[in-house]
Amino acid sequence: MFLFTILLCLPVIGNDSCEYLLSSGRFLGEKVWQPHSCMMHKYKISEAKNCLVDKHIAFIGDSRIRQLFYSFVKIINPQFKEEGNKHENIPFEDETASVKVDFLWHPEVNGSMKQCIKVWTEDSVAKPHVIVAGAATWSIKIHNGSNEALSQYKMNITSIAPLLEKLAKTSDVYWVLQDPVYEDLLSENRKMITNEKIDAYNEAAVSILNSSTRNSKSNVKMFSVSKLIAQETIMESLDGLHLPESSRETSAMILMNVCCNKILKPVDGSCCQPRPPLTLIQKLAACFFTLSIVGYLIFYIIHCNAHRKNKPCTDLESGEEKKNIISTPVSPLEILLQSFCKLGLIMAYFYMCDRANLFMKENKFYTHSSFFIPIIYILVLGVFYNENTKEFLPVYMHIRVLVAAYLFQTGYGHFSYFWIKGDFGIHRVCQTYSIWASSCKNKAECNELHPSVSVIQLFICQYHIWLAADTRGVLVLIPGNPMLNIMVSTFIFVCVAHEISQITNDLAQIIIPKDNSSLLKRLACIAAFFCGLLILSSIQDKSRH
Ligand SMILES: *[C@@H]1O[C@H](CO)[C@@H](O)[C@H](O)[C@H]1NC(C)=O
Ligand SMILES: *[C@@H]1O[C@H](CO)[C@@H](O)[C@H](O)[C@H]1NC(C)=O
Ligand SMILES: *[C@@H]1O[C@H](CO)[C@@H](O)[C@H](O)[C@H]1NC(C)=O
Ligand SMILES: *[C@@H]1O[C@H](CO)[C@@H](O)[C@H](O)[C@H]1NC(C)=O
Repeated sequence: MFLFTILLCLPVIGNDSCEYLLSSGRFLGEKVWQPHSCMMHKYKISEAKNCLVDKHIAFIGDSRIRQLFYSFVKIINPQFKEEGNKHENIPFEDETASVKVDFLWHPEVNGSMKQCIKVWTEDSVAKPHVIVAGAATWSIKIHNGSNEALSQYKMNITSIAPLLEKLAKTSDVYWVLQDPVYEDLLSENRKMITNEKIDAYNEAAVSILNSSTRNSKSNVKMFSVSKLIAQETIMESLDGLHLPESSRETSAMILMNVCCNKILKPVDGSCCQPRPPLTLIQKLAACFFTLSIVGYLIFYIIHCNAHRKNKPCTDLESGEEKKNIISTPVSPLEILLQSFCKLGLIMAYFYMCDRANLFMKENKFYTHSSFFIPIIYILVLGVFYNENTKEFLPVYMHIRVLVAAYLFQTGYGHFSYFWIKGDFGIHRVCQTYSIWASSCKNKAECNELHPSVSVIQLFICQYHIWLAADTRGVLVLIPGNPMLNIMVSTFIFVCVAHEISQITNDLAQIIIPKDNSSLLKRLACIAAFFCGLLILSSIQDKSRH
């Protein structure tokens, strides 16, 4: 019961991960970018082409936008050379997928840029599907950082804002905020580009383009994450202005995630993904468990009433022990319902963690502490369980599973991807139970099997509530504090595993009868039930494609 209070009290964090992807994150180690709260997918050439087929993407702006353009195109075609004329438009077209990506050289927000955008608003054929725009440093440079230029910039942005807003109704429009510079490295003719000026220009752009009008949020999205990336990496820049290759690639990959996650829905790319619809099996399971919970509650209330009637006599004889004796006899049906009730709650929690995008997920990143702390912690929890409940909890099994799990994930990542890909959430668990149930005939044998079953349960549990998105990431219950997060999710993990092993024990005692003939009958029923489920799910799969 303690466990369930925790589950119910957990904060529900369901925010738009797209906004997080565009505006926040941190570096894990040297090169891996971790958006706040969600997982980024690394797009391969084929996936990129698949998503962008028949699309037209336009990058419009200065030399830093050109860099972003090059990195983006290299996701589609790594052979593309950065040798276009510096101050001219650069086209790219992939014949096989008919993807068109253009770079349009408009280093200033002036009449020329406005004209270009205006043409798009008037001609729906020429209008790109995705527009990535940004400019400011050029203006700072040619006006020698004057304040008049800043007020002109504000005026010019104000005049293109309605056009961008209009485009954003049907296309994706991103305004790229200016990255900081590394002032020490800047050449003499760029010395006027200071971070102070850049901040002022960014502020101007945000206040005009990101303002909410008439209670509705602006449709032009601010691409501010490249600013954060640049803050960490601009020191490695060659000229103090242009970013090193790796950070440009990260920005391009973020752009790719923003555009493609909602289309391709990769398992390990939880950023920007809408919630998957409920499958029929999930709905059926929800109904079943809800009924069990209702049934159990009815039993519980009846039981309470009966207990209240008995109360005076127990009180008279003033025996705590006697009370216990009276309340212990429970019918198998009640145990059954109670087990299903608990199982249902755990399943609901699995679902919330795994599929519903309620909790945030982050990419896995190995550090020694993130490996050893859970192990030590589980040891401590194991001791706690042993002392408090006097029950055998296979602590050493936990550790072996942890180690095995890590080996499994690193070495056999690809294998596990195919093996557990898809919507196996509920019937994966059921299948394991049925295998186990069919391999054990009576209770003594079941108890012997118990430790190995715990291993299987742990193995399944970890997929849902500790790791996320089919082992590709880690679940985040407490954002911003990885250590505490490991602690809490490990604790819940152990509690749930413990509960599940108890539930299976209870269920096994009821479902698996002593004599062989009725056992066979029940097994046949169970087998038929799972066959039915499998057929249902395969029918659904087909109808979805
Ligand atoms: C806009 O700026 C670009 C680059 O500085 C320049 O070539 C172009 O002539 C300008 N257009 C107008 C209308 O001022
Ligand atoms: C603003 O637009 C005008 C008109 O095209 C242009 O002459 C001027 O250079 C622009 N100023 C800035 C700072 O972009
Ligand atoms: C640019 O501005 C700086 C100070 O703001 C000034 O010292 C410098 O002389 C100016 N350069 C030109 C070419 O106007
Ligand atoms: C844009 O506005 C939204 C709310 O309207 C805000 O949450 C977001 O932080 C703003 N973006 C930037 C880059 O300031």
